[in-house]
Amino acid sequence: MHQSILVFRNFRYLKWALSVAAVSILLYVVHEPEYGLPNGGTLLGYVLGTFGALLILWLMWFGIRKRRYGAGGAPVEDWLSAHIYLGLTLIVVATLHTGFQFGWNVHTLAYGLMMIVILSGVFGLFAYLRVPELMTNNRRGMTLVQMMREISDLDTACREAALSLGDEINRIVLKASQNTRIGGNIRRQLSGDDPECATSEASRAVRHLADHAPPSQAEGFRALMGLLARKEELLSRARRDVRYKALLDIWLFFHVPLSFALLGALIAHIVSVFFYW
Ligand code: HEM
Ligand code: HEM
Repeated sequence: MHQSILVFRNFRYLKWALSVAAVSILLYVVHEPEYGLPNGGTLLGYVLGTFGALLILWLMWFGIRKRRYGAGGAPVEDWLSAHIYLGLTLIVVATLHTGFQFGWNVHTLAYGLMMIVILSGVFGLFAYLRVPELMTNNRRGMTLVQMMREISDLDTACREAALSLGDEINRIVLKASQNTRIGGNIRRQLSGDDPECATSEASRAVRHLADHAPPSQAEGFRALMGLLARKEELLSRARRDVRYKALLDIWLFFHVPLSFALLGALIAHIVSVFFYW
């Protein structure tokens, strides 16, 4: 997915969304409730509420539609472009439905969940537009598996280079190769970094010991430091790759489950207004 999903079919779905928002605002401005302030219980309130609820059901249907390959009908790009723009229209439709009446109740819970789902959608949209390019630049033609393989080769080369440099260096290099970590829990993945990186620690220690090493070992130290620097560079790229992957996924952990929570709250909202009616 790239920029074209927003410009898709010459902004067709943006135009639809703007029309829906404009008609809702117009109706809201001209509508005069039979009594009291504008709210979800007026005639217009029911119209906008019903439309909003149907829109939410349709937006959720996208999860099913996108998995039905070769199902016919509009291509998935149409669905996604419409999903994004019409999803955003809900902000106008649902807010006007409420007549700006909010409180600590299940109605406002549904509204709040809807806003979080929309916000996570916006985050996901930006991730989809931006991250693939960052990922390609960071990979420089390599896959994550190739990076891992080279890191493992570098570990072997480092251990060999350390053999002639004494016990302490051997211990440091072995520790770095045994404690190499890429990824981990979700926080670590998203940070794209490892503040306790064993290889960076080893690099610092080897640099320090190189300053006090006899001239006969200078060449060996230089070679080892070169290998460690290359490994550090690859590690930081691999960790960044993991971070990008996590950014592409994380928002869906909010978007989809909260859509279902929204559906639950919406049903409770509708049932409760009819119950008290
Ligand atoms: C079939 C769809 C819907 C119907 C029949 C409906 C009905 C109503 C009614 C009758 C009220 C007035 C309640 C009162 O004044 O006590 C109301 C208020 C409200 N509705 Fe809906 N609604 C629908 C969809 C939605 C949707 C999609 C949302 C947002 C996700 C939503 C959020 C709200 C909120 C926040 C209020 C204001 C509650 C308050 O006064 O504190 N409704 N709705
Ligand atoms: C209340 C409003 C919304 C609901 C209920 C909703 C619900 C959903 C659902 C159920 C999916 C399918 C995900 C899956 O099964 O993998 C989806 C996908 C998606 N949504 Fe929404 N959405 C809403 C609003 C938005 C908005 C406003 C945006 C962007 C501005 C957005 C962006 C996306 C994107 C980019 C996907 C595609 C995910 C993929 O193909 O990997 N959504 N949404």
